[in-house]
Amino acid sequence: MMYKFWVLVIALFTSRQVSGSMFRIIGGHEAPPEYGRFHASLQNLSGHHVCGGAVVSNRHVVTAAHCVQGANLKYIRVIVGTTNLDTSGYVYAPISILIHPDFNHSSRDYDIAILKVLRPFDNRHVRVISMRDEELNEGDSLVLTGFGALEPNGESSRQMHALNLSVFDQETCRFAMRYSKNVTDNMFCTFTKIGQGTCHGDSGGPVTKHSYLVGLVSWGIPCAVGFPDVHTRIAPFIKWIQHHIDKSRCTTNKNRTNFNPLPPM
Ligand SMILES: *[C@@H]1O[C@H](CO)[C@@H](O)[C@H](O)[C@H]1NC(C)=O
Ligand SMILES: *[C@@H]1O[C@H](CO)[C@@H](O)[C@H](O)[C@H]1NC(C)=O
Ligand SMILES: *[C@@H]1O[C@H](CO)[C@@H](O)[C@H](O)[C@H]1NC(C)=O
Ligand SMILES: *[C@@H]1O[C@H](CO)[C@@H](O)[C@H](O)[C@H]1NC(C)=O
Ligand SMILES: *[C@@H]1O[C@H](CO)[C@@H](O)[C@H](O)[C@H]1NC(C)=O
Repeated sequence: MMYKFWVLVIALFTSRQVSGSMFRIIGGHEAPPEYGRFHASLQNLSGHHVCGGAVVSNRHVVTAAHCVQGANLKYIRVIVGTTNLDTSGYVYAPISILIHPDFNHSSRDYDIAILKVLRPFDNRHVRVISMRDEELNEGDSLVLTGFGALEPNGESSRQMHALNLSVFDQETCRFAMRYSKNVTDNMFCTFTKIGQGTCHGDSGGPVTKHSYLVGLVSWGIPCAVGFPDVHTRIAPFIKWIQHHIDKSRCTTNKNRTNFNPLPPM
């Protein structure tokens, strides 16, 4: 325990020195193409990346609730199937947003929402990422992807970056973030070192473990200045997500039958 606190104290301390040099990238690497297959970029109508998301069914994307709360469906575009927004990507229109009913904007608890798109994703470019009710233990290796800014207050990036991170101890994280927000059981933290972490535009993006979706980027103290990043845990919400995917399949099928009646015998 003592060791962990020390790492943190050193990190917080050194962050004061580096905060003067603002042009520090968040320390990732270019994301391999396979991450582009399940990572969705939520954009405004002029193609500006706002938040990330993860494709969890052929019609659904999960993202952070704070990304889409109060947003008008008409002004959102979902871009999938790419790690480079300038050279490729497939555009889909959302038809519904479901914010978790317990989402609290100020505490960021239950920071999760489901978007449904009008037409099914094309599985030649898009892959559904599986969710697994997996325990996250301190030190577990995770991969986070995002089109977030590469420097504080910078524009979001057109190239997706990936960052290898490890799960940070929950209690230590709660202590480190105590002047910001409480780290609840619906959240977990990652941390490696100063200069590696999330930045503006990474919110809602997927955090994976062994190719399973385990988290969505939720909040933190931008950008990579030596504090942990905090993510929504997927595990407590798998049933909720699955329920809504299944429910929408049922209604979609019913409607299809209504609109395409069988020819009379
Ligand atoms: C999209 O977001 C960018 C950056 O915030 C802004 O400059 C632009 O006007 C927005 N476009 C629309 C159509 O809202
Ligand atoms: C939301 O969170 C804030 C800060 O933790 C808390 O004060 C408030 O009561 C919460 N709101 C609801 C509706 O639970
Ligand atoms: C990041 O982690 C992934 C999956 O564990 C691994 O395949 C990859 O080589 C790592 N990349 C770097 C730059 O460490
Ligand atoms: C913070 O969240 C934890 C886990 O949900 C809870 O046990 C604790 O009481 C909370 N602390 C505060 C100050 O709200
Ligand atoms: C199915 O049809 C009903 C009634 O026409 C409509 O309210 C509902 O939104 C439709 N559902 C879907 C998934 O299109």
